[in-house]
Amino acid sequence: MEKKRIQIFDTTLRDGEQVPGCKLNTKEKVKIAKKLELLGVDVIEAGFPTSSPGDYQSVQEICKSVKKTIIVCALSRAVEKDIEIAGLALKYASRPRIHTGIGTSNCHIRYKFNSTPEKIIERAIYAVRYAKKFVEDVEFYAEDAGRTENEFLAKVCENVIKHGATVINIPDTTGYCLPKEYGDKIRFLKENVKGIHKIILSTHCHNDLGLATANSLSGIMNGAGQVECTINGIGERAGNTSLEEIVMIIKQNSYLNLFTNINTKLIYSASCLVSECTGMKVQANKAIVGINAFSHSSGIHQDGVIKKRETYESINPEDVGINQSSIILTARSGRAALAYRYKKLGYFLNKNSLDLVYSIFLKYADEKKEITDIELKKILEKANLNGKNHKILHTNHTNSRRINVV
Ligand code: KIV
Ligand code: ZN
Repeated sequence: MEKKRIQIFDTTLRDGEQVPGCKLNTKEKVKIAKKLELLGVDVIEAGFPTSSPGDYQSVQEICKSVKKTIIVCALSRAVEKDIEIAGLALKYASRPRIHTGIGTSNCHIRYKFNSTPEKIIERAIYAVRYAKKFVEDVEFYAEDAGRTENEFLAKVCENVIKHGATVINIPDTTGYCLPKEYGDKIRFLKENVKGIHKIILSTHCHNDLGLATANSLSGIMNGAGQVECTINGIGERAGNTSLEEIVMIIKQNSYLNLFTNINTKLIYSASCLVSECTGMKVQANKAIVGINAFSHSSGIHQDGVIKKRETYESINPEDVGINQSSIILTARSGRAALAYRYKKLGYFLNKNSLDLVYSIFLKYADEKKEITDIELKKILEKANLNGKNHKILHTNHTNSRRINVV
């Protein structure tokens, strides 16, 4: 069976930028957009132009800067003025898309809009029709679709398709759904909405329960054709589905019969760029891009990785642009890792020397989080071994950072 391509809709510059303290200026936004272009995303959600003149300008500049094949998208509420401003901001895009929508859950209808389901459908239709005056490609979002009853959601979808929506986004706005529930929702829409074959269904999952990636995966396994995600998973509250996670899940699991256009080797550099521009540090244990994602510190794991990387790594770090795995020396490390690191520094220790050095190393390591190369040299001095009982391969190594496994 032919593999199905999943479109990657990157919203780092819109939902990602909604994180408090993450504000990006136009120059930074363009720089990130250019990186997303190289990465191979299908759609860049460049901003929410009605929100500020700065965001309007950023959307415009991104349209001018990226290549013609990329869809540039601008967000709007189901409000005439927003849609108009989004249309204007997208003036220079070769492939413009307006992303408009409204809340569809009972909670939103009642408390946010003080409205009725019938009136919400009318507003949804009007928004799509109005957006069609500016662009051909109109994506409709049913905000809080995660908590919207499936029958009503299907009715909303059917109506917006009838009036020209090209993509329908099913956001789990509050990160409420479980993977099966979200997947079932997508399947229900695929099976019950008239005209659904004409449009692409999109996932947009928030991470309030840590399920954003699992829910997006369940969505695409049940028929969604687009995933909305951000680099490093940044976004409102606990964030969005992370681009690197969903892309690598698809790449690593060929039985899914799916693929994306992402050049995965650029994932790590994109992650660093976004972290640098937004000032949002990536947590050390973040899947794929965290500093510890390919680092090994326990003796059993280090021994395995030194013998064969695959013993404790299912992903090849080179696939995401990280050159090598790291062997970190801590109090949990074993002799194999210590000997390995000394060898990297140019010292070959025989068994007796290694035993001696290891006992001193453990005393140091119990006091510290991580042992550096400088400390390794101090340990040799302490053991009175500098020059005795070991072979010096080369001694001009001054690097005190982590040493990598070849
Ligand atoms: O989470 C959400 O519902 C959104 C929409 C505005 C698409 O970000
Ligand atoms: Zn969102």
